Amino acid sequence: MSRSAHPAGPRYADVLPEGHYVAPPTDLNELDPRVWSRTVARGDDGVVAVGGMDVKRLAEEFGTPAYVLDEDDFRARCRAWRDAFGTDADVFYAGKAFLSRAVVRWLHEEDLNLDVCSGGELLTALDAGMPAERIALHGNNKSTDEITRAVEAGVGRIVVDSFQEIARVAHIAERLGKRQRVLIRVTVGVEAHTHEFIATAHEDQKFGLPLAGGQAAEAVRRALKLDGLELLGIHSHIGSQIFDTSGFEVAAHRVIGLLRQIRDEHGVELPEIDLGGGLGIAYTSDDDPSEPHQIATALREIVTRECAAAGLAVPRISVEPGRAIVGPTAFTLYEVGTTKELPGLRTYVSVDGGMSDNIRTALYDADYSVALVSRASTAEPMLTRVVGKHCESGDIVVRDAFLPADVAPGDLLAVPATGAYCRSMASNYNHALRPPVVAVRDGAARVIVRRETEEDLLRLDVG
Ligand code: LLP
Repeated sequence: MSRSAHPAGPRYADVLPEGHYVAPPTDLNELDPRVWSRTVARGDDGVVAVGGMDVKRLAEEFGTPAYVLDEDDFRARCRAWRDAFGTDADVFYAGKAFLSRAVVRWLHEEDLNLDVCSGGELLTALDAGMPAERIALHGNNKSTDEITRAVEAGVGRIVVDSFQEIARVAHIAERLGKRQRVLIRVTVGVEAHTHEFIATAHEDQKFGLPLAGGQAAEAVRRALKLDGLELLGIHSHIGSQIFDTSGFEVAAHRVIGLLRQIRDEHGVELPEIDLGGGLGIAYTSDDDPSEPHQIATALREIVTRECAAAGLAVPRISVEPGRAIVGPTAFTLYEVGTTKELPGLRTYVSVDGGMSDNIRTALYDADYSVALVSRASTAEPMLTRVVGKHCESGDIVVRDAFLPADVAPGDLLAVPATGAYCRSMASNYNHALRPPVVAVRDGAARVIVRRETEEDLLRLDVG
């Protein structure tokens, strides 16, 4: 097979998007610990291992594509968040990032709470033994059935999102002879993404009740009057993949402004605020996220300062990290099927998965990293695009990636930081079978979500 490496250097500037790194990494065999989970390392034989299991064995035993989840790393990240926030705050893992019964058990063992946003997530949480009082139910259009099941189960909180829902939850709770703890989700006019946040005019979205114009204050008025509800506090979630706390600062300022207004108007100091999730992770070596203790210190300082200025006691803080806990703990293991060199452009490397197991590149233009993991290579770096096997040209897994020029069919590639919003957003597009999630720990691997089978596909198709 003929193969030529693109020489390293400025000629990539013609192909790569503006602002993208131009020089290939100095050592393609190196695995940046910021992007890979904690127990990932390349062995002396050049094969990458995680949790004491090498990827060739994993591929043989479980097939590809597969999500490989580092259980020690997951648990360590839970503890880091738990310890950073301490016992006077609550950490709710956002299940939408990735949820399975094993994950629920780990969360429970590591003393975290759980945010669910659907009946399905609630079912998974309860089935795996998460105590209901540690669960929060979210959603902008929860069904009557979902609310009823949550109230019956005794969930610790429901985050209410509209005027109708305030009445609906109160009605259901009263009918069941219960008083449901709720938070009201508000929009503070801040939207944050990565390094930027915009602090005006971002109420134009479906979640929450806007602070501006008084709807949030009206929601509080209504909730306080209803016997079926115990209003615990205010909830705000400002965005995703956020790297600095300036957006949270504005959000906390505005939420605490509402708490002060509530105290002045109703003589009630609400005991809790939830600042949501959205903390960023490293998808590539260019990303530099903060550690949980830095985030906890910053949020605590902001809230304490704002409360002092407002003359309020500091409320109990909760946060809802999803991606920041599970994202870095998993990589997707693929096998290369074909390669195609486009002279003057790049080499396309096709793997056995694609947009059905990772829609984030196509949907959000997300950047990922990739490495050859079944062997080390001393070949020159080659500019590639790692693509899937779907019938669509937008089926891109990693848009711009340097791989060794000798990458060939049968090699295993791994894409790190796919723990969040990859399996949970996976689809059956082109009747693909969704990959398994394999958890590894201490030299052992076990399937926690099995691969879909052809029978699974046909079972729903009733003919
Ligand atoms: N809390 C609330 C109320 C949320 O809406 C979300 C995410 C989270 C917590 C967790 O956010 P995280 O810490 O995981 O960023 N599918 C998109 C992300 C959607 C996030 C939706 N809400 C992605 O793949 O980037």
